[in-house]
Amino acid sequence: MRRTSETLTDFIPNRFRDQVALVVGGAQGIGKAIAVRLAKEGARLVIGDIDRKMMTQTAGEIAADGGSVRTVVCDVRQQRQVNRMVERTIRWHGRIDVLMHIAGVVKPRPFLKIDEKFWDWTIDTNLKGAFLVAHAVLPHMIKQRRGKMVFMASTNSWDAEAELAPYNVSKAGVFLLAKTLAREFGRYGIHSNALGPGFIRTRLSEWCLTHPAFAEKYKNLIPLGRLGEPEDVTGPATFLASRDADYVNGVLLFVDGGQLA
Ligand SMILES: NC(=O)c1ccc[n+]([C@@H]2O[C@H](COP(=O)([O-])OP(=O)(O)OC[C@H]3O[C@@H](n4cnc5c(N)ncnc54)[C@H](O)[C@@H]3O)[C@@H](O)[C@H]2O)c1
Repeated sequence: MRRTSETLTDFIPNRFRDQVALVVGGAQGIGKAIAVRLAKEGARLVIGDIDRKMMTQTAGEIAADGGSVRTVVCDVRQQRQVNRMVERTIRWHGRIDVLMHIAGVVKPRPFLKIDEKFWDWTIDTNLKGAFLVAHAVLPHMIKQRRGKMVFMASTNSWDAEAELAPYNVSKAGVFLLAKTLAREFGRYGIHSNALGPGFIRTRLSEWCLTHPAFAEKYKNLIPLGRLGEPEDVTGPATFLASRDADYVNGVLLFVDGGQLA
């Protein structure tokens, strides 16, 4: 059965009441679904994203539903913009309890057609972005002596797909970054984990459905027999950010319908 936010509202708890959650890359897709879920669970939300238009639309929907939400335009490749996003969050709310670092890009390209610019675009957005955001948020979490960081890895952190070299490498790097931070900052009460979605239907993944090699592969690949929807990721994401995961640190939680089973 396809899960939607409508079916989820029946049993949504209220685990983030009065907590401050920064969702980076929350304008659309998986990040939007996670932002909506956190707001429904009572979080005071700040969304950071490069796409002002989609972010404004998403924030409008969350506010219309009674959620607390503010937005900051931010390109995660730019340290000054990242620092400004985090400073504003602190100025508005005084703390950051939850970081959801979701922003990312992917485009397929045969390895020998990849040039330096394309390589840097993917690595800078997906991997350097995660570093810059963590670097800006951590001093505040250390001061608080608590914090939950959730980074967006992928099944590609483990499963190398052809024509996705910089993406595969960036997502393996994000997982190792999450693990490194779990080791370095656990003693401050800070948790650092990663999510590993498989195929989730979003703007970012839609090219796969028409790409002959990928479309054929995905048809038979997923034991649950369907592609994922952004809402499929919200439960695992909020679990990692919640007190239910107080003894979970440094893991990569695959959300892939059994694709890697
Ligand atoms: N869709 C999938 O199948 C899938 C699977 C595994 C992992 N992921 C990961 O999940 C994350 C979200 O993907 P999605 O499918 O929801 O894609 P999406 O394109 O719908 O959303 C990505 C968001 O990141 C933002 N973003 C992109 N570059 C940015 C930048 N430089 N600075 C700030 N924000 C930026 C975009 O504006 C957008 O709001 C990505 O990290 C992606 O790699 C997606």
